Amino acid sequence: MSMRAEKTALVTGASSGIGAAFARLLAAEGYTPVLVARRTDRLTQVANEIRERTGTRCEVLTADLTDPKAPEWVVSQANEIVGGIDVLVNNAGLCRNETFAEAPWERAAGEIQLMVTAPTELIHRVLPHMRKRGWGRIVNISSVSALGPPGASLLYTGVKSYLLHTSQALDMELKPQGINLTALCPGQTRTEFHDVMGVREIADKMPGFMWQDADTVAAAGWKAVSKGKPVCIPGAMNGVMAYLTRPMTVNAAYSFGRKFNPFKDTAA
Ligand SMILES: NC(=O)c1ccc[n+]([C@@H]2O[C@H](COP(=O)([O-])OP(=O)(O)OC[C@H]3O[C@@H](n4cnc5c(N)ncnc54)[C@H](OP(=O)(O)O)[C@@H]3O)[C@@H](O)[C@H]2O)c1
Repeated sequence: MSMRAEKTALVTGASSGIGAAFARLLAAEGYTPVLVARRTDRLTQVANEIRERTGTRCEVLTADLTDPKAPEWVVSQANEIVGGIDVLVNNAGLCRNETFAEAPWERAAGEIQLMVTAPTELIHRVLPHMRKRGWGRIVNISSVSALGPPGASLLYTGVKSYLLHTSQALDMELKPQGINLTALCPGQTRTEFHDVMGVREIADKMPGFMWQDADTVAAAGWKAVSKGKPVCIPGAMNGVMAYLTRPMTVNAAYSFGRKFNPFKDTAA
């Protein structure tokens, strides 16, 4: 370990929800958070709250992670401002409520860039510093939907499955070097996610026991990566869901997913 006193954490999607919860938690743990998202006003609000509450330094980088140039810019800026990243939380993400065929390609490509390429590139770019120190913690926010049957919503279950599998593979490679990776797989979490998706009304009808708050989810993810657990399913309810849907055969999982897919048999 280097003698550098400051420990740092880069959190993407820190302007709300699970990302903001991670930023607060990591600041309370003594890390200097570097917050990334598109909405500067919301990032500044979270950063001010963290500074007031913990007295720690907190930095803000405004970036749109659908831009292929953003990951390199974010890490170079972070390295310049705080001198290297010790903890990376790849959290920025969203889910759309629209059909693949009707969405413009740029939107689908943006989702892949945001939730596949950007997190992968960010990991690659923070690794030199972590490997030099012989210590690092990386949390990739997947979803409980990555563990279950294929679902609706454009590319969402596909990209979240990528994050789940890639986290585990990279954890195998990097754990011997002191770098733990965890795929955090939340279920329904009270954030702005369902507003962005445009399904707030449907979400509000789901029973209370299905929901967790963002602080609980972030705490479970941080505990898991600290202990070196490669996958974290927060909450007993989500654990049961994952257990019940996982043993399905590939064909049974397809049929199950199809039953609940609102876009099935969409007329051309
Ligand atoms: N809530 C749930 O039920 C649930 C369940 C399973 C998994 N998840 C996952 O949890 C993660 C966090 O979501 P959340 O629930 O906390 O929702 P949220 O409150 O909507 O937060 C999403 C965050 O991602 C950021 N973001 C979106 N597009 C971005 C872009 N192009 N560039 C940079 N940042 C971007 C948003 O910031 P800006 O808009 O300011 O850019 C925001 O900070 C996501 O990966 C989501 O898929 C959520």
